[in-house]
Amino acid sequence: MSRNLEFDENMCGAAETGQKQLKLFVETFGCQMNGNDSEVVVSVMRDNGFVLTADPENADVILMNTCAIRENAEKKALNRLMHFIQEKRKRPGLKVGVIGCMAAGLKEKLKKNGSQVDIIAGPDSYRQLPSLIQEADGGQQAVNILLSREETYADISPVRMDKNGVSSFVSIMRGCNNFCSYCVVPRTRGRERSRNPHSVFREVEKLAEQGYREVTLLGQNVNSYRWKEESTGKEIDFAGLISRVASVSMDMRVRFSTSHPKDISDRLLYTIAEHNNICRHIHLPVQSGSTRILNLMNRGYSRKSYLERVNAAKKIIPGCSVSTDIIAGFCSETEEDHHETMTLMEEAGFDFAFMFKYSERPGTAAAKNLPDDVAGDVKTRRLNEIIELQNRLSSESNKKEEGKTYTVLAEGKSKKSPLELFGRTSHNKVAVFPEGNIKPGDYADIVITGYTSATLIGRIRNRS
Ligand code: SAH
Ligand code: SF4
Ligand code: F3S
Repeated sequence: MSRNLEFDENMCGAAETGQKQLKLFVETFGCQMNGNDSEVVVSVMRDNGFVLTADPENADVILMNTCAIRENAEKKALNRLMHFIQEKRKRPGLKVGVIGCMAAGLKEKLKKNGSQVDIIAGPDSYRQLPSLIQEADGGQQAVNILLSREETYADISPVRMDKNGVSSFVSIMRGCNNFCSYCVVPRTRGRERSRNPHSVFREVEKLAEQGYREVTLLGQNVNSYRWKEESTGKEIDFAGLISRVASVSMDMRVRFSTSHPKDISDRLLYTIAEHNNICRHIHLPVQSGSTRILNLMNRGYSRKSYLERVNAAKKIIPGCSVSTDIIAGFCSETEEDHHETMTLMEEAGFDFAFMFKYSERPGTAAAKNLPDDVAGDVKTRRLNEIIELQNRLSSESNKKEEGKTYTVLAEGKSKKSPLELFGRTSHNKVAVFPEGNIKPGDYADIVITGYTSATLIGRIRNRS
């Protein structure tokens, strides 16, 4: 999926310099962390006199914030890049940059057209973008793909691009040290590092002052968040961080993503249970239901210990929903392994899942050591079976909601009808309901009257 940053040009007005202000267009691919990175990029660029434009045809500089997680994601970005390179023929002054997770591997992928990309910047070099653009103005390709052990952009206030003004994202760490054998992230984003908690609290306090009602703390593995205060020697872990974030405003909901099953602790589960405004939802990617495959993936947990964590979450946090990520057709996966994934899905009773076909990524341990030997049509069939099963599980989970009342945070107009709003319950289910006198940003008690596999349908219950 790609997103353009949507905004009002005035909102991002740069300091008046008297010179023509250069227009920047940013297009973002990939995960929420990349989305949040684009907000950091816009902040850096705005401080250097750029204004944003929603129209690439109008832009002086186009930056594509790319994703490398699967081959499809890369293909989509490369197609779009070719389109922008064509644009340069029509407008020779235009500068095109590739930033984010594809930056490091780009030259290899663009053997022929690589030199036509003006700027290549990895996820840790966004502070240098203005100088890289200047360098590119001189006619050479400007490249910085160095990864850092310290950069967290802690002092940069991201320019919020979310349209609704209700929910927002705050990155609390960068990089990843887990080296799951299939995954490029440790290579594209480097070593894991946690962000100074005081800068996290300040950012969340500012969001609360601006009227935001929901904040999602982001990291590839939030459970390993850790910060040691140099002056006192005191340590804060993720449970400590989220508990302090939750105390910023009782009117602000707190979510987080992603938890790694190998180290989601009871302490964190109890912390969630203790705070009403920490949402009753955990995204706990399982990837496979077969312990043998999990070992090959280097995930650090077994089928049994994963299910034990799901049960602990449901026991400690009543009403907690659990969602997951699943990869179909990993190296050497047999029908029996696949079957174990399906039975684990039933046992865990996932409320929602992101499901993918395995895609071999260059440079990963799996690419080096494990043949990608499940045939394409077998991967497709297994993925379809997984999707079909999850649709059933989601419908069953939604059916149980009928007649219950949930507090929903209204986020905006429903896509289907201008007279309806949509929002989410604490356990992360999307509900649509007639607008009444509710506005985006309001909490409303919604009685669930119907459902589809993806959505709850409800009506407002008047508060007594
Ligand atoms: N840090 C998170 C998510 C990382 S990427 C975590 O550890 O869970 C999001 C999801 O993409 C992963 O959970 C995985 O399901 C999927 N994914 C990652 N690499 C992949 C690959 N090579 N092929 C297919 N899916 C992949
Ligand atoms: Fe990739 Fe694993 Fe890190 Fe998630 S935990 S980003 S899947 S290496
Ligand atoms: Fe995110 Fe894609 Fe990078 S999922 S971390 S943008 S490889």
